[in-house]
Amino acid sequence: MSQRSCLSVILAAGEGTRMKSAMPKVLHAIAGLPLVAHVVKAAEAAGATGLALVIGHGAEEMRKAAQKFAPRAETFVQERRLGTAHAVLAAREAISKGYDDILVMFGDTPLIDAGALAAARQKLAEGAAVAVIGFRPPNPTGYGRLVEKGGRLVAIREEKDCSEEEKKIGFCNAGMMAVAGKHALRLLDKVGNSNAKGEFYLTDIVEIAGAEGLDVVATEASFESALGINNRAELAEAEGIWQGRRRREAMLSGVTLIAPETVYFSHDTEIGADTIVEPNVWFGPGVKIASGARIHAFSHIEGATIASNCDVGPFARLRPGADLKQKAKVGNFCEVKQATIEEGAKVNHLTYIGDARVGAGANLGAGTITCNYDGYSKFFTDIGEGAFVGSNSSLVAPLTIGKGGYIASGSVITESVPDDALAFGRARQKTLPGKGRELRERFASAAAAKKRVAE
Ligand code: UD1
Ligand code: MG
Repeated sequence: MSQRSCLSVILAAGEGTRMKSAMPKVLHAIAGLPLVAHVVKAAEAAGATGLALVIGHGAEEMRKAAQKFAPRAETFVQERRLGTAHAVLAAREAISKGYDDILVMFGDTPLIDAGALAAARQKLAEGAAVAVIGFRPPNPTGYGRLVEKGGRLVAIREEKDCSEEEKKIGFCNAGMMAVAGKHALRLLDKVGNSNAKGEFYLTDIVEIAGAEGLDVVATEASFESALGINNRAELAEAEGIWQGRRRREAMLSGVTLIAPETVYFSHDTEIGADTIVEPNVWFGPGVKIASGARIHAFSHIEGATIASNCDVGPFARLRPGADLKQKAKVGNFCEVKQATIEEGAKVNHLTYIGDARVGAGANLGAGTITCNYDGYSKFFTDIGEGAFVGSNSSLVAPLTIGKGGYIASGSVITESVPDDALAFGRARQKTLPGKGRELRERFASAAAAKKRVAE
């Protein structure tokens, strides 16, 4: 089958009014990736060599987004929504290029698995002209029913056109199908619109192909994989299913999730074996974690790279560009952005590190702040190997602290510090013997005098 060329035609012209959104429905995301991008990924995993995206509503926004998630896709605008067959024909130019297989998919069905698509393509390889992907929803109302006779698929009947008898059929059309490229345009061109909705139904090609004596079959996919998203409740449901699958995959690959249902992955999260993730952790896009790390509870991590045996959190926030080398530690209430924390360095408590490098083995005390922004530009702070920064220090960038540099607590450091130097950037302490007691006595008698006046 792998030698057969395949064009995936993804229908995404619908408005998605039930999302009640200014954004086209299929651009809403699960796991941080637009619905339609999940569909593209599944198509590619099933061997699609060409991609045709049929768009309509929000065409400009769709085109722009497609450049990111499917740069090689061709886009076709369906000016008027006259039905699914009409939508597929919007991609006529791509279909006529002579692909072996045409895989019709819906942009709002993000959980479709590549296996179900590959199974339908396999039927084409075995000689079928059309292979429809069916499924058995708990409640078939609203779906097209797969009408079979003598084990053969003879028609797909839309709910509105069903007889009472046909409404009882539980085997339904998931919407997606594989069509042999050599027959596709001829079959589609024969579709008419004399039905309850007055639309050109893609599903009609089943009867048309049957009438031509061609082989038409149905394959079966899971209910989940055919879940179409129409509103935000279904969006959340799909997110839940996706997260469930991903958590399981992570655990089976050797990652410990103590409370899996509280850990959220992105579509591209990478985690190595023997990493332990405590409850309530969020992974935004672009996170790569090696093996043996520990991510403590309530950490929020995106765009970060975490090497093996690092320790992160609890309550850590790693933002894009955070790069933790082996055994680095970023502790509670610390934020790291666009900064490298070299091997074994410690950023343990209540700290902000942005646009910086923290050298190997350096130790930053509680409340260390890199002052990286003057309201206009960002500046870099370089902290050398083995440096020590005392608690509550502000490091005003641009700044270099040399190897083994030592910063006294409470300092505001505005000038670079050479290797092994000690720097103070605070007012010198004055100690006045006995002055504490004297002050207390003065305040006490003032308070007593005030009280007497009030009486
Ligand atoms: C379709 C199937 C139905 C199946 C169901 C599964 C047809 C005729 N019916 O019905 O058998 O059980 O999906 O969910 O195919 N679209 C366009 N342009 C159009 C019309 C639709 O791009 O002119 C797109 C929509 O944006 C959507 C997809 O095609 O992504 C399906 O259209 P929709 O109207 O949801 O079809 P259903 O009535 O759900
Ligand atoms: Mg639908």
